[in-house]
Formats: sequence, C-alpha cells, structure tokens
Amino acid sequence: MKKRAEKYVVGNFKGGVGKSTTVQMLSFESAFSRNLKTLVVDLDMQGNTSDVLNLTHMNYSEEEGGGDLLNFENTINDVLMYNLPVEEAVYPIINNLDVLPANISFEMFDDWVKKEYPESTDQFRYIENKLSPLFEKYDRIYFDVPPSISVYTKSAMYMADWVIVILQTQVKSMRNGLQYMEYMEYFVDEFETSLKVVGVIPFMLEASDAVDKEMYAQAQQIYGEHLLNTVVLKNARLKRYDGSGITLEKTKTGKIEYWDRRTHQIFKDIYDEIETHKTWFN
Ligand SMILES: Nc1ncnc2c1ncn2[C@@H]1O[C@H](COP(=O)(O)OP(=O)(O)OP(=O)(O)O)[C@@H](O)[C@H]1O
Ligand SMILES: [Mg+2]
Repeated sequence: MKKRAEKYVVGNFKGGVGKSTTVQMLSFESAFSRNLKTLVVDLDMQGNTSDVLNLTHMNYSEEEGGGDLLNFENTINDVLMYNLPVEEAVYPIINNLDVLPANISFEMFDDWVKKEYPESTDQFRYIENKLSPLFEKYDRIYFDVPPSISVYTKSAMYMADWVIVILQTQVKSMRNGLQYMEYMEYFVDEFETSLKVVGVIPFMLEASDAVDKEMYAQAQQIYGEHLLNTVVLKNARLKRYDGSGITLEKTKTGKIEYWDRRTHQIFKDIYDEIETHKTWFN
C-alpha cells in the first residue's frame, strides 16, 4: 500500500529548549496511541533522540515491539555518505515506531556535501532523494534537528510539510520562536517549498504560578492562533525520560502510573491540537 508521510520538523535555533523531547513524545503518541506508522529521522549528530528511543525500546515487551538495547551499526551518515540503502539504517523501537539514527560521525557530512554539491538546493535534493524511499512507508515522519542554522536544519525544512515551533517562554523575551519563523518565511520564499507552521508549543520551564497567565497572554499577542493551549511546564518525569527512555509503567492494579499518565496526556493534547490546526489549511 502506498502512503505519503506527513513530515514534521520541530524547530527553534536555540539549544536545549525541548525540540528533541517534543519529537520523542509526539512520535511516541503517534505510534502508540494513534497506531500510525511513524518514523523519527535523527538529523542531529548529538544523537540524543536516537539514544532515548533506544532506551525506550528496552522499556517495552516483545509483544509491544520492545526488546534488548539495539546496536545502531548503521546510521544516517552511512546512507548519505556511503550509499547504504536507507532501509538498512532503520531500526524498530516499538510497534509502529522506527528510528533512522544519527551519531557523531554525521559531523563529517557537512563538509562532504558542500564539496560534492556547492549549491544548497542540490544539497537538500540529494538528502531528500536518499531518504525518499521511506516517505511512502510511513504515515508520519518527525525530523529532529540540531540548534542553529546548518545544512541539517535547512534540509529538514526543505523536506518537511509542517513546522512545530518550540517557544521557550521567558520573562524577558517571548520572541525566540519568531526568529525561527522569520527565517522559515525567508526559506519558503527562497527555496519555494510549502512548509507551514502548524503550532507553537509554549515551554514554561521557569515560570512561577504568579506569572504564568501573564506570560501566556504575552505569547498569545505575538503568536496568535498558532500558540497551542497546552503548555509544557517543568516536569521531572519528562526530564527522567532523557536517561530512562519513555516509560508507561503500570501500577499493581493495572492502571498507568500517575506521572507517566500525566506526562503522556500533555503530548496527546498537543498532538490533538496540531491535528486540529492542520484542518485550518484545507
Ligand atoms: N518540561 C520539561 N521539564 C523538565 N525538563 C525538561 C522539560 N522538557 C525538556 N526537558 C529537559 O531539558 C533538556 C533539553 O531538552 P531537549 O533535549 O528536548 O532540548 P533540545 O532543544 O532538543 O536541545 P538541543 O538544542 O541540544 O538539541 C533535556 O534534558 C530534557 O529532558
Ligand atoms: Mg535536541
């Protein structure tokens, strides 16, 4: 059966704002809760998302598609620099969720591709061609990108249909998400792509209750209807997933453990809001 994946990039040029966390959680909800065939493409040589998904794999039973720690022998770099067929670098995480991992070797790709293809459009097309056999096999593809503007972030913008912007809400500045959106607008013009902003997720990691509402209202003035209603607050469980992988523990009575349930609910809500926003473009 032929599919055409909807492709998402989660962006902000700042580091450590929650991009990878969002990719991990939304791809998990897409696969686990919505039963959609989902792929994560790790375009970040830090490989954080590859590692977290590998740990996630260990948290689930065989029936759920989990298992022992995987050895990512092949990575995206082997596909892009050494002609490995892309299917050979895809690893199953849980049922419906796969990853095309990255590691530090991906650092070399930047120099290489610029030498081989001096024109940026050619670089993006080259990457897209290499990955395109996967586009027909999935319902959803999420690109995890590094911070800052580079061939990695730009090629994700080139390939994606939708952008999810992370807004790190801060008392001082609400505008960090705008920088990304302004660059994106330039990019869409320059490279004639059809990328669209499908939502801005507010991450309020430093807010105290007293300023929460005010900060949200300020953000709404800037981002309007793009801003999601669901706010991601400081959340120790989410932080823990970074070292434990994503969990969904069951209590003795068979219910999902409280903090796992709450944390997953946040991203289910975000997922649903994004689905609604997409319909505005039809
Ligand atoms: N809501 C939250 N509460 C507490 N910690 C969080 C929350 N969201 C993310 N973190 C933690 O903050 C750190 C940075 O998050 P993440 O890796 O998602 O950011 P990033 O934007 O992908 O960073 P980079 O730019 O380096 O790729 C991680 O350790 C993550 O677990
Ligand atoms: Mg990241």
